[in-house]
Amino acid sequence: MPDSSAIFRDDLLAGQVALVTGGGTGIGAAIALELGRLGAQVVIASRKQSHIEPAAAGMSELLGRPVTGLVCDIRDREAVDAVYKDLLARHERLDILVNNGGGQFFGPAETISGRGWDAVVGTNLTGTWNMVHGAHKAWMGRHGGRILNITMLTKRTFPGMAHSVSARAGVEALTRTLAVEWAGTGIRINCIAPGLVLSSGVATYPNGAQLFRQMQQHIPLKRAGSMDEIAWMTAFLASPAGDYITGQTFTVDGGKELWGDWWPIADPKGGLPEVEIPKWPWEA
Ligand SMILES: NC(=O)c1ccc[n+]([C@@H]2O[C@H](COP(=O)([O-])OP(=O)(O)OC[C@H]3O[C@@H](n4cnc5c(N)ncnc54)[C@H](OP(=O)(O)O)[C@@H]3O)[C@@H](O)[C@H]2O)c1
Repeated sequence: MPDSSAIFRDDLLAGQVALVTGGGTGIGAAIALELGRLGAQVVIASRKQSHIEPAAAGMSELLGRPVTGLVCDIRDREAVDAVYKDLLARHERLDILVNNGGGQFFGPAETISGRGWDAVVGTNLTGTWNMVHGAHKAWMGRHGGRILNITMLTKRTFPGMAHSVSARAGVEALTRTLAVEWAGTGIRINCIAPGLVLSSGVATYPNGAQLFRQMQQHIPLKRAGSMDEIAWMTAFLASPAGDYITGQTFTVDGGKELWGDWWPIADPKGGLPEVEIPKWPWEA
């Protein structure tokens, strides 16, 4: 594991404070580490102490300076306010917010219960809203800042994830709107839409490793992405390189969204219709 960035200058974010939700595992941990390697003071937050505590300790060791771990469910507005209070009491500023915490389960739309829908939309859309609204209120509305929302591929379709793709498309619309409403405060806000990324999240799907292996066939670059590839895009947008970019969604997917259909759609009964090329009566 490298102790400095493979891509960027090590002091790129020196003196800045970054909060990464879901920063104890997977992609969020890769983002937290990359921002830390670039000199930011990092705070990670998610629901489970068992994710946050060892990750904060492990990152502190790797970076050679303390990473703060806070327990917070992004669906709980009081808990979100408490995180900002705690963070500002410790670090006195907040420059970068990465809304990476989220998740979903896989299932055809007709199998998603009302409770399941509410949980996924509540986490991914309302949770993101709670975080950005809280950040504006606590600090960024007066001082500006950079917000990155991790979403998913929303431009075409995402069969099997009707709840999450709806929530993430909502986050992207929210991002475009806040980019305009909050432009005058110095807030820049963008989304990063990962394609298939090898992370701890893979294990949350039944036969995740096997499913991800097969899905690589449907990606033009013929491989899954790495967590670092999402972290590097996040660091780029969190740095001055992103100063003239706001309200956008950056897709990091090896070309997946441009190509490839993997959701099986059964042929009609009796097979596909015969193809007869239509002719006008005057055509031979
Ligand atoms: N891997 C991919 O291919 C892929 C593709 C597109 C998008 N994404 C998205 O990228 C993000 C990171 O995914 P990952 O692959 O790294 O999976 P992961 O390891 O399961 O990460 C999800 C993180 O979100 C946190 N979280 C979940 N619900 C939360 C809540 N209510 N409040 C606060 N934190 C919460 C989890 O921590 P706790 O359990 O401790 O709360 C966990 O750290 C997710 O939003 C995911 O949907 C992933």
